[in-house]
Parts: sequence; C-alpha cells; structure tokens
Amino acid sequence: MKGISAIILAAGQGKRMKSALPKVAHPILGNPVVWHVAQAARAAGIQEMVFVLGYGRDKVLATVDAFGGKVAIQESQFGTGDAARCGLAELSAGAKEVLVLCGDAPLIRPATIRALLSARRRKGAAASVLTGMLEDPTGYGRIVRSPEGTVAKIVEEKDADAATRRIREVNSGTYAFDRAFLEKGLPRLSDVNAQREFYLTDLVLEALAEGTCVVPLAAGDPDEVRGINSRRELAEATRIVLRRKLNALMDSGVTVIDPERTYVETEVAVGQDSVIEPGVSLLGKTRVGRGVRIQAGCVVEDCTIADGAHLKPYSVMTSSHVRKGAIIGPFSHLRPFADIGEGAHIGNFVEVKKSRIGKGSKANHLSYLGDAVVGKKVNVGAGTITCNYDGIAKHPTVLGDGVFVGSDTMLVAPVSVGKGALIGAGSTITRNVPPYALALSRADQKVFELWVARKKPELLKKAGLAVPAVKKEEK
Ligand code: UD1
Ligand code: CA
Repeated sequence: MKGISAIILAAGQGKRMKSALPKVAHPILGNPVVWHVAQAARAAGIQEMVFVLGYGRDKVLATVDAFGGKVAIQESQFGTGDAARCGLAELSAGAKEVLVLCGDAPLIRPATIRALLSARRRKGAAASVLTGMLEDPTGYGRIVRSPEGTVAKIVEEKDADAATRRIREVNSGTYAFDRAFLEKGLPRLSDVNAQREFYLTDLVLEALAEGTCVVPLAAGDPDEVRGINSRRELAEATRIVLRRKLNALMDSGVTVIDPERTYVETEVAVGQDSVIEPGVSLLGKTRVGRGVRIQAGCVVEDCTIADGAHLKPYSVMTSSHVRKGAIIGPFSHLRPFADIGEGAHIGNFVEVKKSRIGKGSKANHLSYLGDAVVGKKVNVGAGTITCNYDGIAKHPTVLGDGVFVGSDTMLVAPVSVGKGALIGAGSTITRNVPPYALALSRADQKVFELWVARKKPELLKKAGLAVPAVKKEEK
C-alpha cells in the first residue's frame, strides 16, 4: 500500500520476561515475537517498516533484514511516545499515513490492520486505535470512551483509579495515524505520569485539542490485542499462533490427527492429503509434499520431504532431502545433507550424514553412512559402517549401482566399490573394488570337531544338553 509506513516499537527489555534476550526476540514457532508483527504488516500490504530498537538490538537485526526494514535507535527507553518519535525520524517523505505497532503483540492479523487503517480514513480522524474487550484487563491501558463513542482518553493501569481499572476495553498499542498529526503531536507529549515516561497514548488528548479525534476499532477476536510481557503470556501466545497454523494446514487439506499434540513452525509448508500423527515437530523451513505420512515422534527441521514419502515413528532429520516415496525409520537419523533417493528405504538405527542414497537403495538396519555416494538399487547390509574419519579429515565412500554390501562391513574411506560388485559379510574394505567383483576380507574359518564336548562339557550340561561320548585318544 503506497503512502503507508509502519513503525514497530521494539526497544524495550521486557523485564518481566526475566531474560538476557530482549522480549521481542523470544521465538514463537521458530520466529521472533517481533517477526510475527512485521509479517502481519507485510501481509496487510505495508512495504516500508521502521523498527525502533534499543535493548539487545543485535538480536533483532535478522528480523529487520528479513523485511528489508530500517532501524531507528532509541538509546534509553523513555516510553512509547519517545519510541514513536525516534521511528518517525527515519520514515520516508512519501509516508502520509503511519501505522504504529507494538513489537510485543504478535497476534494481530493482516485483515485487522487493514480495518484499522480504513477506520481512520472513513472518519478523517487524526488516528484510530485497535482495542479489545478482555476478561482480565490487568496491566493494559484502559479505553475511556466519549459519549459519541470516540476515545476520550487512554489511562495506563498505573495511573488509573479504581473505577477506570474496572473498564474492560483495553488499548492494544496498535494505531493508525495521519502523519501530519503525529509530527505535530509527538513533541508535545510530557512525561508527567506514574512511570515518568512519554506515553504515546496521550496523543488522544492532543487530537481532541486539535478539534479532531481518535476512533476506536474493537478487535473481533480479543486475542489479537494481547501483548507479551511474561513467559506465561509467551506460552499462551504460542498456543494461539500454533492453533492458527494447524487450522490453516487443515483448511488446505492436511490431516492433523491431534492438534493439541502437534508442533508445526510458522514457515513450514505441508501439501494436500499429508497426514501428521500425534507428537510430531515440523521445524524451520521444512517443506512437505503431498500424501506424506509422518508418524509419532518425528522431528523434522529444515528438510524437504517429497510426495508420498513415509516417515515412520521417532525419526529425526535436519537439513535433508527425502525424495518421492522414500521410507524412513522407525528410529532413523538424517543429519545435514542427507539426500535419500526416490523409493529408497532407511531403516531403524541408521544414521546418514552428507550422503546421497540412490533410487531404490536400502539401508535398513543399524548402519552409519557418512560422506557417501550410493548408487541405485544398492543393498547396504545390517551393521555396515563407512569409516569416513581418520582423526584428521573426512573421506568419501562411493558405492556403484546395484552393489550388494554384506552385513557388518567396514568401508574404510576413501574407497569405492564398482557397480554390481558384492562384498562378503564381515569384510573390512580398504582398497577399491572393481565392478562385478566379489570382495572378501575375513580370516578363514577353523572348525575343531567336538571341542566343546572335550574341553567345556559343563557348558553343555548347563544348557541341558547330553554330552556326547568322546574317545580317550580324542581328548
Ligand atoms: C503499552 C500501552 C498500553 C497498552 C499496551 C498494550 C503506552 C503508554 N501504553 O503499555 O496502553 O495497553 O502497550 O500491550 O503506550 N517500547 C519502546 N521504547 C520504550 C517503551 C516501549 O520501544 O521506551 C516498546 C516495547 O519494546 C514494546 C512496546 O513498545 O514492544 C510496548 O511497550 P511496553 O513497555 O510493553 O508497554 P506497556 O506497558 O505494555
Ligand atoms: Ca506490553
């Protein structure tokens, strides 16, 4: 939307969080509180954003960058009015309307921001303010309405008398302003109040003095006005944002079997007809295709999971790619840059790191594959390990198409096995194997006839076996 810019107030420490991290940088579903505010503004069509930063500002800069925002520094936190003044100084000349958002109120929705902007325009008012009716208004500024229904004043809890404290309509801290009014009004604020701060809310009085007014817009959903001041409020807001995310997924055709026990972060995408079973965490920038089944206990972070894949219970994966129809788990671990080919199977207690597993290949039991390139239709037997690390550096293992690796094979890297080759179980492979060859490295098996009967008959007795007769000379 042209001519409308946002100032996001985010300089405060947030003492009640009891944290070294600034309040607005605490994550909700993987993104900082203030990110959610900016995201709502951007979705409402706001391009220019000025972030007012102070306490712990380096922890907020990533969010500023994500939205191409500008930074205004408020060295000391003299109040919301002072913060808005700092922000205003950074706004471009083209901004005729200014949206002021609270960096600690992440539940606001884009449609509400648009409604707030039009509420002001419709009345040609100096400002509009988003309000909410709360069951428990404790801690918020109260909206005192005039007989005409506009705002007479906003009174902070600490400045309020008993009657004012009983008002349940609260200030969300989100406003739309006519810029010219803001320019004129901000320098006139005073800090004569209980907190010795410059209150942005006192602009209501400036508006009335100018012969204009501030129009209230009551949020349909009072949750939208909630600010976060404590860890408990952080948890409540997280629950609400999570429920919205899961609802959006369900509305788009994803089955979430138990939304109370499913955790999906904001930027995760899931395709139609995928099923998310209870106890699953989908994190970061994970992309899940269509028709994927994700079973209990899977933790999937920054992964791409293609159509029709199946993640069996308790599989953990990070920065990996699972291609179409692949089956992972139960109890698999995919570490960064595991690339599991179409229809491949990675089974229980198999760890894969920085390795490409070809189409239709299988590693089903108890293996470690690191720095490996595995061709198509390869069978990796139980207990196979790529010995990729020599204590100093990592080395690659290459297995050609159709290779059969017998169980309990050690592949001492760097090493390569040509296509179609077979490795006998229990081998330690230290040299390259040519295509179609059999490679074996084991000590020859020795058999001592009746050795147990002669030397350890007590073992047989313990097992309830009869001890076979052995001739004297055989003893
Ligand atoms: C503010 C409002 C209150 C409203 C509530 C909604 C005022 C005076 N009060 O109170 O009416 O009900 O929000 O949540 O405006 N900030 C700065 N610099 C400062 C002070 C604050 O950037 O000097 C930022 C904070 O980082 C925060 C936001 O402004 O993101 C709100 O500040 P906070 O101190 O939480 O205000 P409240 O006391 O909650
Ligand atoms: Ca607050």
